[in-house]
Amino acid sequence: VVMDVILDVDPGVDDAMAILLALASDEINILALTVVSGNVPLRSGVDNALKVLAFSGRSEIPVYAGADAPLVRAPVHAKQVHGETGLGNAELAPSEREARPGASEFIQKTLTTHPGKVTVLAVGPLTNLALAERIEAGTLARAKQVVVMGGAANEPGNSSPTAEFNFVGDPHAAREVIQSRAAVTLIPLDVTHQVGIPAEEIDRKIRPMGSGVARFFCEMTDIVVGLGREAGGYVGVYLHDPAAVVYALRPELFDVVEYWCDIETEGELTLGQLVVDQREGLPESRRRGVLTRIAVGVSSEEVLGLFRQRVLKG
Ligand code: RIB
Ligand code: CA
Repeated sequence: VVMDVILDVDPGVDDAMAILLALASDEINILALTVVSGNVPLRSGVDNALKVLAFSGRSEIPVYAGADAPLVRAPVHAKQVHGETGLGNAELAPSEREARPGASEFIQKTLTTHPGKVTVLAVGPLTNLALAERIEAGTLARAKQVVVMGGAANEPGNSSPTAEFNFVGDPHAAREVIQSRAAVTLIPLDVTHQVGIPAEEIDRKIRPMGSGVARFFCEMTDIVVGLGREAGGYVGVYLHDPAAVVYALRPELFDVVEYWCDIETEGELTLGQLVVDQREGLPESRRRGVLTRIAVGVSSEEVLGLFRQRVLKG
């Protein structure tokens, strides 16, 4: 069965990989890419979305430009990871076409005219989704499901000691999305840190493939691999955003639990933290936040295998 998908992105290296995976998956019909400010400013993200679709020969897929800033906080980017352009050192041919404006209006209209039919995959800060919900409360609950790459439950953050980049990027939007009555499943760092492609595989397996997509993958990931070497972190690339796409394709590869959650929107040290209430034996009336589905485990090799087979064709 083919699922209709809106893919909300802040491309971004792993966002580009998520787009390639969705394009290579016959089970997915991408209705549109909606772009949000995140890894890079909105204009760069829009450019990158258009370029990745052109690179893939899929310029018929609409691209909608969305929020150029978070709801409340000042914009935050991650150029140290994704490079100045947002696609690492990769240089794709420019796209001949323009994006359309109005991402959140597109999301709201599509979910309202096709209730229960559309899957929303959100792999950047959640500003566009929160704005769609603000147009009309209940909008996100009309999605078939909302899969969000974001948060860190029992895992250190990556944008701060306790918080993950997408939720730091727009903490207020993240809170509004998990507090909406939508069928949200979070794919947090707890899972995505288990789904990485190490530098030795990039150098020994992927680079020698010689295909256009293999070269694109290597050029995109040079910077983040170099960061890992310099900073003593993971020497490779985490497939954060592709993991969210795989969840939509193969949910059985993930262990999902329900926790009471909320998002910190005030903390000086903890802004954007996914606060998970794991206290034993508490009446619901005393719980903080809302009951939220969170992926806590994953069959990493199967997820990586699907990505290698469909995107790298290797
Ligand atoms: O924390 C990982 C997330 O932040 C990914 O979506 C990556 O693209 C960045 O946006
Ligand atoms: Ca992203």
